[in-house]
Amino acid sequence: MAKTLAAITGVEGWVPETKLTNFDLEKMVDTNDEWIISRTGIKERRILKEKGKGTSYMASKAVKGLLEKTGTAPEDIDLIICATVTPDHIFPATANIISKDVGAVNAFSYDIGAACSGFLYALSTGSQFIESGRYKKVIVVGADKMSSIIDYTDRTTCIIFGDGAGAVLLEPSTEEGIGIQDQVMQSDGSGIEYLYIKSGGSVSPATLETVAAREHFASQEGRPVFKMAVKKMPEAVNKLLKNNEMTSDDVQWLVPHQANKRIISVVGKNVKIPEERVMMNIERYGNTTAATLPLCLADYENQLKKGDNLVLTAFGGGFTWGAILLKWAYDGSPKS
Ligand code: UT7
Repeated sequence: MAKTLAAITGVEGWVPETKLTNFDLEKMVDTNDEWIISRTGIKERRILKEKGKGTSYMASKAVKGLLEKTGTAPEDIDLIICATVTPDHIFPATANIISKDVGAVNAFSYDIGAACSGFLYALSTGSQFIESGRYKKVIVVGADKMSSIIDYTDRTTCIIFGDGAGAVLLEPSTEEGIGIQDQVMQSDGSGIEYLYIKSGGSVSPATLETVAAREHFASQEGRPVFKMAVKKMPEAVNKLLKNNEMTSDDVQWLVPHQANKRIISVVGKNVKIPEERVMMNIERYGNTTAATLPLCLADYENQLKKGDNLVLTAFGGGFTWGAILLKWAYDGSPKS
């Protein structure tokens, strides 16, 4: 009997309405539209402004939309995994709150933290439950309210990040060969010093001093992260293709993490996939961390065809990185 594969049978994205443009940022820090566009490709990002609303709010919007468009009853969901670095609270898990908000009363749920690779890690994890035959309907959501951990006096980070959420439904593939095929996943904790939040965890809990020193915001050394990102993503993609005896010609779509347009261009070049087959929406959303991949899939969904080979790749804090190969399950819009 052929192995059961996990197929993505629907995708939905959700972003807040409020836009933070490069021109807005010009009034906040010493920067300008031309610098931001030429160095990152970003024109605007979305910000969840309303007080008292966190990551689960955006994630639940995406999941509710996903349930509706796939005609799935919330009580039929077995598992919800939420990838995020901006949980509503340190505990309980944001996925627990999403489950409650969407009415997934029979699901168990938990969070995964792998920074910008979070969605990739969560997809890897969620697909195992389908492949093993344990569960039939798994939702993987990537969501981050990056505006809650960004220092809007730090021009090196505030220009990059935005808020958003995206979710996919995983089900056992009904057709042989369709679904998630393979993966190459890695991490290296020695990257911590280049991209992290210094305080607020168990090593350095919050004190008046840590707050005054602005240690609860994300800090990044951009150049070393850039260098590693353009090295590790192509390495993972090329290894994945080699392991599957494929070349870049066999890939219809590269779905890269949206951190910087220049990074995306180098990755595309180094894996020999031309621009027109590389998904990109960074111009409108910036880097939404765990949400970039599902937001790309949602934006390009109408252009996807059943049987298309997609390679998803990401790189982020940790360091964490990897690539997943999948054969897309449907044309245009999902079953309903
Ligand atoms: O998604 C998770 C992983 N994160 C990433 O993949 C991000 C990786 N890094 C990057 O995308 C880029 O490194 C950045 C976009 C963060 C920065 O771009 P860069 O081309 O690496 O710039 P840089 O840090 O080397 O800075 C170049 C210059 C510096 O001035 P000097 O020292 O040459 O005088 C910076 O102070 O640009 C200056 N600068 C700015 N100028 C205007 C830095 N930020 C800004 C700014 N506006 N916002």
